[in-house]
Amino acid sequence: MTAAITATGITKRYGPVEALRGVDLEVAQGEVLALLGPNGAGKTTFAEILEGFRQPIVLQSAGFFEALTPREITAHFASFYPTPLDVDSVVEMVGLKEKRDARCKNLSGGQKRRVDLALGIVGNPELIFLDEPTTGLDPQGRRQIWEVVRNFTALGKTVLLTTLLPG
Ligand SMILES: Nc1ncnc2c1ncn2[C@@H]1O[C@H](COP(=O)(O)OP(=O)(O)O)[C@@H](O)[C@H]1O
Ligand SMILES: [Mg+2]
Repeated sequence: MTAAITATGITKRYGPVEALRGVDLEVAQGEVLALLGPNGAGKTTFAEILEGFRQPIVLQSAGFFEALTPREITAHFASFYPTPLDVDSVVEMVGLKEKRDARCKNLSGGQKRRVDLALGIVGNPELIFLDEPTTGLDPQGRRQIWEVVRNFTALGKTVLLTTLLPG
């Protein structure tokens, strides 16, 4: 069994705030691991440390591309990677088949989050981090995210996600 993530004794302080205290974690390849916890539990801090403090893969919003369509943006991002996934399959996988040729500025908030997700996976990464991917989505949108996660791991890929646990 190959480990996709191995973390040992992860600790993080923000001045007086001890956000993480000695977190150990191993995630196997092809596994989905969800970090559950209320606001302030340290989920984002932990995920960002594993990401190497780099920009999250999934963008906060597709606002820069309002005049483009989901298909155009996804194809554009696909062109940045050596072995991208098929653009139309990705657009369909995130549930935007009917909206693939609509201008992004005319999409609903939930549909824009699906575009973000498409941009996150089109590069065909081995491992994806999704920080509260279902926040702000309707029940159908949430199911679609889990479906994408399943499709993704069916390809032998690994997912680490965080979910807000209602208090
Ligand atoms: N840049 C920062 N500066 C100071 N404190 C921070 C910073 N980022 C997060 N924190 C604190 O660290 C704790 C964990 O935050 P965070 O990782 O964002 O939690 P979650 O994602 O689970 O809601 C909280 O107490 C939060 O206030
Ligand atoms: Mg967070």
